[in-house]
Amino acid sequence: MEITEQKQTLLLTEREEDIQKAAAILKKGGLVVFPTETVYGLGGSAENREAVDGIFRAKGRPSDNPLIVHIADIGDAERYAYPSPLFYTLAERFMPGPLTVILPKKDILPDNVTGGLDTVALRMPSNETARRLIATAGVGIAAPSANISGRPSTTSFRYVKEDMQGRVDAIIDGGDCAIGLESTVIRVDGGTITLLRPGKITVEELSAFADRVEVDKAVYRLLSDGEKPLAPGMKYKHYAPKAQVILLEGSEEAIAAFFAAHAGDARVGILCFDEDLPLEGAKVLTLGRCDDRDAHARRLFTALRDFDTMDVDTVYARLPEKSGLGLALYNRMTKAAGFAILQV
Ligand code: TXA
Ligand code: MG
Repeated sequence: MEITEQKQTLLLTEREEDIQKAAAILKKGGLVVFPTETVYGLGGSAENREAVDGIFRAKGRPSDNPLIVHIADIGDAERYAYPSPLFYTLAERFMPGPLTVILPKKDILPDNVTGGLDTVALRMPSNETARRLIATAGVGIAAPSANISGRPSTTSFRYVKEDMQGRVDAIIDGGDCAIGLESTVIRVDGGTITLLRPGKITVEELSAFADRVEVDKAVYRLLSDGEKPLAPGMKYKHYAPKAQVILLEGSEEAIAAFFAAHAGDARVGILCFDEDLPLEGAKVLTLGRCDDRDAHARRLFTALRDFDTMDVDTVYARLPEKSGLGLALYNRMTKAAGFAILQV
């Protein structure tokens, strides 16, 4: 999708007067990129159809992929949706925070927000700037991740500017995002929770609050032509850097040997852990210490974008484990790799 108009983008800070400016832009139907604890969001008033159309255009996003509506207070959930008892139980434990819950939608939302679906995704971010912005604007903010469609989500001011400057009215510099992967997206039906997209809030944590937690198959694998994911966004190619990412599965020794054998290749990048270093000659980025999954989450999208500037055709990385926060890393990395997995 082409963007037709080049906008003058105001670069703002997290100071009160700048939040006021950003809120005024949102109230008038403009677009503001803002930090959250997960990734940066590309926001517009959820109650303004034209603003929402503008979000899809600015991102180059297919119009059947619904947006999350961000609220500043749990009390606002009822303005946009029909919350269930389980929603409130989960909200008490996990909100504000990196959890998005799908609920039946109310008519106050224009239907382009939800891509024509009769449900809406609601999230209350824990990032203070995000919540102050929403509260000051006085309206729910529809916001997808602030990246050009198909690219890794943005988790730093530098990369959000690279994708969004010229496409939106303002960008708020909130530094680096604390979590670095997008929110956990769930559906609640009675006492059952269905995980549509894994994130910082894990299946294990959610299990304490539901009779059952099911995981949509699109979380684990590439769907075949006839299959449909529960979250429309999970069907699109995502997070792809310019290089082909190949994920390695095997013993620690085999992977270490594989990294060492390819470290000298000029057009190969290696995404590893601190413990793998030093690797002579290679274009290497590390996700942090092996046992520090929070660091892996925080660094993954930046690392994928960094490889774009490193002149590599192939990036080798470990296939993450599927437990805890590992499932979110597994999901993002298999998608970035187009499910290319090599047994070593
Ligand atoms: O952490 C996050 O969730 C970030 C920050 C900005 O809040 N936002 C984000 O939005 O990742 P986005 O649009 O990039 O991803 C939203 C995901 C998509 O996969 C979309 O298909 C799904 O949520 N989704 C949204 N509304 C839905 C609905 N009503 N039913 C099913 N899936 C929905
Ligand atoms: Mg996204």
